[in-house]
Amino acid sequence: MTQAVEAAWQAIERCERRTLDQLFAGDAERVAKLSGRIGWGEGDDTGGILFDWSKTHLDDDLLCAFEALAKARDFTGRRAALLSGERVNTSEDRAAEHTAQRGIGSEAAVEEAEALHQRMNMLVEAIHGGAFGDMRHLIHIGIGGSALGPRLAIDALARDGAEVQVHVVSNIDGLALEAAFARCDPATTLIAVASKTFTTAETMTNAVSALAWLRENGVADPYGRVIALTAAPEKAVEWGVDETRVLPFSESVGGRYSLWSSIGFPIALALGWADFDAMLAGARMLDEHFRDTEGRANLPLRAAFADQYYTRVRGCQTRGVFAYDERLALFPDYLQQLEMESNGKRVDAVGAPVSGPTAPVTWGGVGTDAQHAVFQLLHQGTVEVPVDFIASVLPGDMLDPAHHRILLMNCFAQGAALMAGADGKDPAREYPGDRPSATILCDDIDPATLGALIAFHEHRTFANAVLMGINPFDQFGVELGKSIANKIDAGGATFDASTQALLEVAGFD
Ligand code: F6P
Repeated sequence: MTQAVEAAWQAIERCERRTLDQLFAGDAERVAKLSGRIGWGEGDDTGGILFDWSKTHLDDDLLCAFEALAKARDFTGRRAALLSGERVNTSEDRAAEHTAQRGIGSEAAVEEAEALHQRMNMLVEAIHGGAFGDMRHLIHIGIGGSALGPRLAIDALARDGAEVQVHVVSNIDGLALEAAFARCDPATTLIAVASKTFTTAETMTNAVSALAWLRENGVADPYGRVIALTAAPEKAVEWGVDETRVLPFSESVGGRYSLWSSIGFPIALALGWADFDAMLAGARMLDEHFRDTEGRANLPLRAAFADQYYTRVRGCQTRGVFAYDERLALFPDYLQQLEMESNGKRVDAVGAPVSGPTAPVTWGGVGTDAQHAVFQLLHQGTVEVPVDFIASVLPGDMLDPAHHRILLMNCFAQGAALMAGADGKDPAREYPGDRPSATILCDDIDPATLGALIAFHEHRTFANAVLMGINPFDQFGVELGKSIANKIDAGGATFDASTQALLEVAGFD
């Protein structure tokens, strides 16, 4: 940690602690100062998202102190490096070029992404046009970043039906693939094998079983049904996929940032190209805001200020994310990978031990369900959990407007209750209050909004990494377990007594 960074942290820690009540009482402009809207569209066709961070403990003093930290960490330089395609992933000596998929990046990366999108679009059109026969289903096989984005986007946006039904299968547990088989007719089913590396054991095993299922059910050339989405096109070809159906994306697009690349193919196939393009455009709105806005007005950076404050200064070990919208039910799952795989690190970008906590545990669920399950702890438990609420002004349903009204009023009531607290006639009925939350209020949940929401969190995650001085783009923590599983598979190795006993009970040789 440099002296400037250390001094910035000391200044942050010296800031006077005020309660949320005091902060609101002391500043009539607080809501305006700590809210920001990003909007797009023209005429009636508007859309946008309001980001309200006023119910967090950020105030002018803290914002100034965090701006000093961002300066000491050269946030502006790091951001420029990211967006211009520099090799910001130092441990793997790679750029992190997901924004190039949305048109912001080095010229070469943007051109490559445009060419890929053109090929994706053509293949989508060909499938919709019947070039592969009457295809009604796609089994999308992938895991982690190769599954979570398509699963989220299709669940959020294809509720009224899809041009092709997509079934995302990630788990190696055969039950997952069997459930997809049960919903598909082999005669009208395509298979997407989505794997950046094209080596992931779960994905490759599931892919082999999917081909066997097609073959056993009368498909003479199962490989002819496969589309490969990968950054290792040569491996896909070697595996048996014709190169006309291999959609290669760049090595510099990280797995958890890859839904913008060919990993997003099933999204385009389900929703149509225009909607996938609208997701890219929504993400680009956020990219432009992130690129062009300085200091506290930069919304992902401001969110990262609050994240750092809660994790490092107030010792919060978790952050809750509650989507008050069924369409975003999978958003907390998506964020878990994005945030925990990116920033769950214990060394900084040059390999030195970090001086404090890094990523908190991201968890959450859907409102109002979660209110009846876990909110007890948020209101009266002994740990402080900063919470994000995400909601939409417009409903997704066509039922009596009472449904959406009750949904939204509950969302807003929870933020108000966490902050205000309440006296009770005995300690069990008391609410301490002063518990922080942020609210992300979308005009609607449409492709552009979902794209913008995801990009906001990508940039928030990056901003957090910059403030901590860590590299968010590698994930070596997942490798050790994989290599031990491989050793078990190979046989002949011995492990600790507990693992040996488990292997014996389960009948491993
Ligand atoms: O094991 C972690 C991970 O490497 C993720 O980062 C990635 O999204 C996932 O596995 C799947 O990897 P691949 O796309 O190479 O199959």
